[in-house]
Amino acid sequence: MRTQVVIVGGGPAGLLLSQLLYTAGIDSVVLERRTREYVEARIRAGVLEQVAVDLLEQAGAGARMRREGLSHGGVKLASDGEWFRVDFEALVGKSVMVYGQTELTKDLNDLLAQRDQPIFEAENVDLHDIDGSAPYVTYLKDGRPQRIDCDFIAGCDGYHGVSRKSIPAKTSQVFERVYPFGWLGILADVPPCDQELIYSNHERGFALASMRSMTRSRYYVQVPLGEDLEDWPDERIWDELALRLGPNAAANMTRGPSIEKSIAPLRSFVFEPMRHGRLFLAGDAAHIVPPTGAKGLNLAASDVHYLFEAITDFYRTGAQGGLDAYSHNALARVWKAERFSWWFTNLMHRFPETDAFARKMQLAELDYLRRSKVGAAAMAENYVGLPF
Ligand code: FAD
Ligand code: PHB
Repeated sequence: MRTQVVIVGGGPAGLLLSQLLYTAGIDSVVLERRTREYVEARIRAGVLEQVAVDLLEQAGAGARMRREGLSHGGVKLASDGEWFRVDFEALVGKSVMVYGQTELTKDLNDLLAQRDQPIFEAENVDLHDIDGSAPYVTYLKDGRPQRIDCDFIAGCDGYHGVSRKSIPAKTSQVFERVYPFGWLGILADVPPCDQELIYSNHERGFALASMRSMTRSRYYVQVPLGEDLEDWPDERIWDELALRLGPNAAANMTRGPSIEKSIAPLRSFVFEPMRHGRLFLAGDAAHIVPPTGAKGLNLAASDVHYLFEAITDFYRTGAQGGLDAYSHNALARVWKAERFSWWFTNLMHRFPETDAFARKMQLAELDYLRRSKVGAAAMAENYVGLPF
């Protein structure tokens, strides 16, 4: 088989890229290791920047998001239960969209299914001749070996994928920070405790009140690494949330049985460069952010924007400039989101080394954000997403 672009990974990055290429008349094949059901059930991100919303619209995948997504014009920041609002609309004239990654993935999969994509349960995907002008990808489908020849390979296969590992170590560099805690998340069919998200810095550790809709809530509490889910029955999580989010949120918090519970470790990670020969990495395959800034999915979308522009430019005009500049352009935005997520993580969490002085520093910075329009505007500008 032959196509123009082989896309490894059918997560948000791979699906969005494939759909955008399709709208531009460029053929691609998406190879996804898992089943469609598995991919669509993974509970992950929930907040989209305007640039990600615009890209979904451009891909023709925005109809349900427009109907069901919740536009949020601000967030609340709390310290020890007392909160203040950062008003994105007043400060920077923008808002974000609350729409689950599960829903976005379903919408894109529905569109791709119209042309028999992705190829699910593609096993042992392997990349070949990425240094040359005729790369190809091999894989097993139903136990039978397959081969697809192509012009380009997009590595959209996430942090644990095969694409990044196909790039020789001597031509690349890794930048990494592993945090000494994780987020325990709980999803429940109960109304959210507030109209907006609440990020809370508390003596006992960080907590976040988020949502998927006005009838489905998503909450997180910071937990030490190595914590066992078995030790966190629902009631213990609700009790901890009530303490960390404070009395106002607790009074409005509806408790209910969890429909999903998981622990995600926190990590900052960047792999440079994001291109090797004919292979282009996008999304979690190239970088990870701690979820505090809600940037993971948004960065995947912004990489796809740069890559889509570069590939379409190549097929329209033969110009290589966009492809050559891809890694540089994408990384410039990646590093700013890495910085913001790292800063926000440091501001809101309790670290093993958070002594009395460090905690005073956090509280002083939160009070500064509360009282300084300039300070709050910088936070708002980054949260809603920097321009391309
Ligand atoms: P992925 O979503 O990881 O998709 C990669 C796809 O490639 C997967 O479907 C995978 O099955 C497939 N794949 C992997 N290896 C292969 C292979 N060898 N062959 C073929 N296919 C392969 N972000 C936020 O903004 N907020 C959050 O709350 C949040 N929570 C998260 C929780 C967890 C547990 C994780 C892991 C991430 C979370 N993120 C969150 C980050 C966000 O979900 C990701 O940034 C986003 O999914 C990136 O999309 P992607 O398409 O690049 O990668
Ligand atoms: C979520 O709703 O899952 C979510 C929201 C904001 C974040 C992280 C996760 O910063």
